[in-house]
Order: sequence, then C-alpha cells, then structure tokens
Amino acid sequence: MEYIFSLEFIYLIASITYILGLKMLGHPETARRGNLIAAGGMTLAIFGTIFLYQGEVATHIYILIGIAIIIGTIIGWVVAKKVAMTKMPELVSLFNGMGGASAALIGLIEFHHYTGDTISTVTILAGIIIGSISFSGSMIAWGKLNGTFKKPFRLPKYNLVNNLVFLVLVIFAAYIAWTSSGSQLYLYILFFGAIAYGVLFVLPIGGADMPVVISLLNSFTGLAAALGGFLYGNMVMLTGGILVGSAGTILTLAMCNAMNRSLFNVIFGGFGDTSTDEAEGSSQTIKGSIKKTTVSDVAILMNYSQRIIFVPGYGLAVAQAQHAIHELEQLLESKGIEVKYAIHPVAGRMPGHMNVLLAETNVDYDKLAEMEDVNPEFQNTDVVFVVGANDVVNPAAHNDPSSPIFGMPILDVENAKQIIVNKRSMKPGYAGIENELFYNQKTSMLFGDAKTVIQELLTELKGM
Ligand code: TAP
Repeated sequence: MEYIFSLEFIYLIASITYILGLKMLGHPETARRGNLIAAGGMTLAIFGTIFLYQGEVATHIYILIGIAIIIGTIIGWVVAKKVAMTKMPELVSLFNGMGGASAALIGLIEFHHYTGDTISTVTILAGIIIGSISFSGSMIAWGKLNGTFKKPFRLPKYNLVNNLVFLVLVIFAAYIAWTSSGSQLYLYILFFGAIAYGVLFVLPIGGADMPVVISLLNSFTGLAAALGGFLYGNMVMLTGGILVGSAGTILTLAMCNAMNRSLFNVIFGGFGDTSTDEAEGSSQTIKGSIKKTTVSDVAILMNYSQRIIFVPGYGLAVAQAQHAIHELEQLLESKGIEVKYAIHPVAGRMPGHMNVLLAETNVDYDKLAEMEDVNPEFQNTDVVFVVGANDVVNPAAHNDPSSPIFGMPILDVENAKQIIVNKRSMKPGYAGIENELFYNQKTSMLFGDAKTVIQELLTELKGM
C-alpha cells in the first residue's frame, strides 16, 4: 500500500501513460484520447513530485512553483485554444523552444552542485549545449514560419563556420569537464555560445524546411530532458525525454523520406528559399495555356461521374474548407458516386495535417487513402478534384531532374480522366515552383477560395 503512494509508483504510471499515449497518437480515431492520457500522466508526475518529494523544500519554492504552474497553464491553454490549425507548426516550435530552455536552465542552476563529479558535469554540459541550441533554433524557426525572417541568412562559407563553432563549443565543454572548473563564467560563455550556434544553425535553412527542422529540434529537446532525468535519477523525465527524442528523430526522417531528401540535404542544402505566401511566381516558366472552368461545369462533370478522388492540400486548411468538402463528399455519395480522399504524407504544413483536418469533420477514416495505395487507382478515376494542393501533385517531381522537388513521391493525379484544380491564382506552392499539371490537356482550373467554391458547388449539385 505504501508503494502505491510512493513517487516511484507515480512515475511508473506516468511513464506507462506516455508510452500508451504515444501509441494512441498513431491513429486519428484514438489520437485525442491518447493525448489526454499522456497529459493526465504528466499532471500526475508533476503533482506527485510536488507532494511526495522527500527532501527539504522551502515554502517560498512551493509558492514559486504554484505561480509558475498557474501562469504556464493559463498561457498554454489560451494559446492552444486560439491557434489556427495552419499556425500549429509555429506553436509547436514555440513550445519546443521552451522545453529546450528549461533543460538548459536546469543545467545552469545545477552545475555548481556537482563540481568534481565528472559524469554529472558532462551530463549537465551536454544538457546546456543541446537545450540552448534547441531553444534559440526553435525561436528562429518560429520567426521564419511567421514571416519575421523572410529570407535565409547565410554567412560566407556558413556550413564551415557553423561546424567550426560547434566544434569549439564541444572542445570548450570538454575543457570545463576535464579541469573540473566550477567557473560560472565559463558556464555562461558555453550557454551563450550554444544559443548563438542555434541561431547560426537554423538561419541559413529555407522556410520550406522548417517543419523538418522543428521536428529535429524537438528530438534535441527530448535528449536534453533525458539528460536531466539521468542527472536526477528521475525515471519519468528520462522516459519522457527518450520518447520525445526518438519520436522526433523518427518523424524527422519520415518527413525527409516523404520529400525524397536526406537530412544532410535539408540542413546543408539551402533548399526552400521561397515560401508560398511571398512567392510571386516561379523562376521556371512553363509554355502553354491553361483552361479555366466554372462551378456549374464542374458540378455537371461531378454529377455524371462514377468515381471521384479529392486531393486536399494546404489551401484547404487555409480556407477552412474541411466541413464543406465533407458535405460535398456526402452529397456525391448520396447520388451513388464513389468518393475518396488521397492523402500525401507532406500535404499541408505539418505531419498528418490533412488527417487532422478531415478528422475534425468526422470524415470516415476508410475514405482516406494513403499515397501508395491510391496512386494505382487514379487511372480508373473519372474526376480528380485537387483542392488547395500544389507541390504534392507536381509532375516535375517525376519529369524534371533540375527541379528542387525532383524525386519526391507525388500523387499521380495526371493519370485520371479529368483533373479539376481549385486554387485562387497561378501562384506557386511552398516549394516556389511552377506546376505543369495546370497546363495539362486534361486539367481545368477552377479559381477561387476553396470554401467559397465548394459551397457554390454544393448549391449547384443540390439543384441537379
Ligand atoms: P502547397 O504546394 O503549398 O500549395 C498550396 C496551394 O494552396 C497554393 O498553391 C495556393 O495557391 C493554394 N491556396 C492557398 N490558399 C487557398 C485558398 N484559400 N483556397 C484555395 N487554394 C488556396 O501545398 P501542398 O500541395 O499541400 O504541399 C505541401 C508543401 O509543404 C510541400 O512542398 C511540402 O514539401 C511542404 N512541407 C510540408 C510538410 C508537412 S510535414 N506537411 C513539411 C515540410 C514541408 P493560391 O495562392 O493560388 O491560392
């Protein structure tokens, strides 16, 4: 019975909830519950630590902890409630930066308690370096996503300079550990050096690659937290840190795979210099003309089809057209037309963006088809309706070796009998390049905001 009220037992339960929660995040149906379970475990661990900790703690520390929890909870709750789905990567980078900063601060505060203990000193120094890089890197990533830093900034020979700075940091940390120097000044030099490196590390990387960078920095934060757990012998911090670190690494590599690029290329390649919202046009120009269509023509086309595939992209999220497209799907199905959604792994701006968006409207999960499964089906499809997607259907990925997205797996929508593309203009997508699909003989452009266009389509189809 005593064990049940011990901190070890609470930490065991919390660790189990993290693992369970993470597993449940793997499917849209269980994701929300998984998130709640893991958050419940975290709450248990926090309050267990506060109330069951055996050591001496001054009352004012408890007051400070209480104030921090209240302020943090209010800010976190309000910000997360208000954030638009398209701004989620920004929020994730902000929260991740806070995690990195916390890990670094733990190191700064604990350092002088462990002078002379080499293993603990090395752990603390590693936590400071990794946590600080994660903090400043995440802040730059956040600035890039919200448009504060519009263009990548690159020093001459920036890759060499960055690697040298990192090497100096590691050597300096080794010196501090080797000499058992308890110098707080050295520690602060290391801390600010690592902050500077985080800035230098992310500034040259293009805005289009920020989701990958954020996921990578997320794994750094996990590692820094795990080092803190190791230092304190705190199981729950160690488990949580390792889970975040490994999940972040897997996600980073999965995103790179989906774009057919190596992590090395993302970090050192200087890709993704343009971003959709600022791009006025592509550097490449495609010869040919586009064919415009109207809502009523598309409604007639859809009404007489047997199989339709929707391809949602970032524009669907911007327009908040998820409810409208679900209604369109239901209306078409009620007319005996088979409808599916083709989901590209990097459609939108964050992993699982389209799944999350469509899950919000209770779209049947069986209707969401993964890229590999749906690609062979396009040739038997009457109409493909591309809604606010661009890069993920750009055939340049197959045909143009000079294209920055060459080799990226795409949805082969050009194999369908008819292609309808809905977007507002001829502006490029995130990669900042033109799309020859729009000039395809089978393609008709339906210009306009996705939500407005789909609502008009609904009205037309209801009258047929
Ligand atoms: P994009 O290629 O970015 O294209 C989105 C299109 O939506 C734009 O061309 C835009 O054209 C249109 N749009 C914007 N607002 C709209 C609205 N209100 N109504 C209708 N259309 C609208 O999107 P995608 O095809 O989803 O590709 C995702 C891109 O992000 C890829 O390059 C991918 O590599 C990159 N990326 C994604 C991730 C993850 S994890 N998802 C991670 C890293 C990078 P108009 O301005 O003309 O309307």
